[in-house]
Amino acid sequence: MTEKTTSGKNTSGRGQRELRVRVKTAKGRKLSSTLWLERQLNDPYVIRAKKEGYRGRAAYKILELDDKYGFLVPGARVVDLGCAPGGWCQVAVKRVNALGDNPKKPVGTVLGIDLQEIEGIAGAQIHQLDFLSDEADALVKGWLGGKADVVMSDMAAAASGHKGTDHLRIIALIEAALAFAFDVLEEGGTFVAKVLAGGAENEMQAQLKKSFKKVANVKPPSSRADSSEKFVVAQGFRGKSTLSGSFLPVEDDQD
Ligand SMILES: C[S@@+](CC[C@H](N)C(=O)[O-])C[C@H]1O[C@@H](n2cnc3c(N)ncnc32)[C@H](O)[C@@H]1O
Repeated sequence: MTEKTTSGKNTSGRGQRELRVRVKTAKGRKLSSTLWLERQLNDPYVIRAKKEGYRGRAAYKILELDDKYGFLVPGARVVDLGCAPGGWCQVAVKRVNALGDNPKKPVGTVLGIDLQEIEGIAGAQIHQLDFLSDEADALVKGWLGGKADVVMSDMAAAASGHKGTDHLRIIALIEAALAFAFDVLEEGGTFVAKVLAGGAENEMQAQLKKSFKKVANVKPPSSRADSSEKFVVAQGFRGKSTLSGSFLPVEDDQD
């Protein structure tokens, strides 16, 4: 199915060939799938994730965000919403010292939830759950058992192919994540969430600016240039009393 070009026998006469995996088109596979597979196999972050034992290239997004903003500190209590397959959890476990690897530092906790089933991650408490279900809020708060220092959400609904619908879906997910964060974040805490560029998030930004000391909108280097995703990193939570009414317009998805 795949063939690796090698720097061995050089028959092209053009110097050393690059080590690029090419994927042959196969019967029954669409060209778009072939191109996706080829991009995956040649993506430096995918290759690095495999080498470094991360479950996916997404791990580098939270690594890069944390390198810049420093919210995953030893002892922190972290909630990871939409955590499958688990890259962000893996990073958080290490950085908050959830396994107590560093006996001189405080031990943190990592709670991850996702719609999909996730293979266990040492140091993290993982649950399969639809975060938009009626019982989700109470369940996650029960599992958390108190306050959190970081609420992070990489939740993304499966693409419908309709840009407007996809945008509203991601807004609904962020709204739920943010409402949860307002309830559980410790003062001084951090909220990190994936957003898609597209406009309707202005009210959320205004609310975030009121309720957090610093709000940054960033696209980490590992986020694909052709993706409209970016991340909001809100730090220094001022407390729930800063929440004024509904921060996002309520709109129905239209399939
Ligand atoms: C981009 S992936 C997350 C990758 C993850 N950060 C990692 O490092 O492996 C987005 C995840 O959001 C999850 N998701 C989408 N809607 C959800 C919902 N309503 N409740 C829980 N998880 C959801 C999806 O199942 C998917 O696994």
